[in-house]
Amino acid sequence: EREGYPHFMLKEIHEQPRALQETMGSSISDLQLTPAQIRGFSKVVITACGTSYHAGLIGKYVLERLARVPVDVDVASEFRYSDPLIDENSLVIAMSQSGETADTLAAIKEARKKGCRTLSITNVVDSTITRETDDVIYTRAGTEISIAATKAYTTQVMVMYLLGMLFARERGWCSTDKLAVLEAVLYQVPDWIEEILEQENNIQEIAGHYHTCDDFFYLGRGLDWAVALEGALKLKETSYVHAEAFAAGELKHGPLALITEGVPVVALATQEDLMEKTVSNIRVVKARGGSAIGITVGQSDLVDETCDYVFQLPKAPSVCEPAAVSGCSAALCLLHILCPGLRCR
Ligand code: BG6
Repeated sequence: EREGYPHFMLKEIHEQPRALQETMGSSISDLQLTPAQIRGFSKVVITACGTSYHAGLIGKYVLERLARVPVDVDVASEFRYSDPLIDENSLVIAMSQSGETADTLAAIKEARKKGCRTLSITNVVDSTITRETDDVIYTRAGTEISIAATKAYTTQVMVMYLLGMLFARERGWCSTDKLAVLEAVLYQVPDWIEEILEQENNIQEIAGHYHTCDDFFYLGRGLDWAVALEGALKLKETSYVHAEAFAAGELKHGPLALITEGVPVVALATQEDLMEKTVSNIRVVKARGGSAIGITVGQSDLVDETCDYVFQLPKAPSVCEPAAVSGCSAALCLLHILCPGLRCR
């Protein structure tokens, strides 16, 4: 069943291009929401746990940027006890790969009690969550056996983009031309992930330089921060080493004290408009003796000059700024591969 892969996580990492194609091909077509309902929501709340929560953070970025609808993202185990400010004009989205996570189910119960419209995004057909929500979108990742989610996450991110585009279209916040460009970019993502997978040996080799380190830090801004959080979670979950993610600008407000000689910092700089800012944070890391692993898009002299190792991701056309997700999916794919590499301690 592992088809020659040493473990399921790696097999599932390699299944991402296919999984994404499946998700793009079909997933939001069954949505029952009418255009009037989509236009009528005053806010969206995304609630989830673990990796699904991190995909929700990308969802906030996408929905707010593309459709200008306010989005809160809440950890489900907090949401259920927080007496949330939601009502019949709110859409509550529960995201769960398995569709069975108890806290996420409880959050949905709370949302229904308050009269909200509910939508689940799940990978498992007929899972409990699908019976508890008004609408369902299926990610089409195929069975995910590894506890550490990989293809489930990237397909969730893809659904967030498809939903964001639908909301943008209905709420009139995005030109048809821009949406067409974005759609074309999304169709390229599986190929880009394929390109990253081809670099696997190179990534593993770099992981080999760091595999005895006990602490890892991840930093980024905007979308990169959301990806950094997921990268750190994945490393903890798979390697049992301490890993933490920071919003890059927060580095100076405390965490810098932890960056000492040789401590590895994975710096994500995939958004051109934030590149210089993030590079200035990398410089600070280097000044403290830290070792920087940069992840960027295309060729960036700035990142090259400051980092010890650099991964280049394929570059999306800049006409379509939120297409940074392409970078984001690809970056995550890369971080996922890094994890098994680091695990061989
Ligand atoms: C945790 C898993 O127990 O559940 C995480 O370790 C996962 O990997 C989280 O992201 C949430 O799961 P689900 O199925 O609700 O997305």
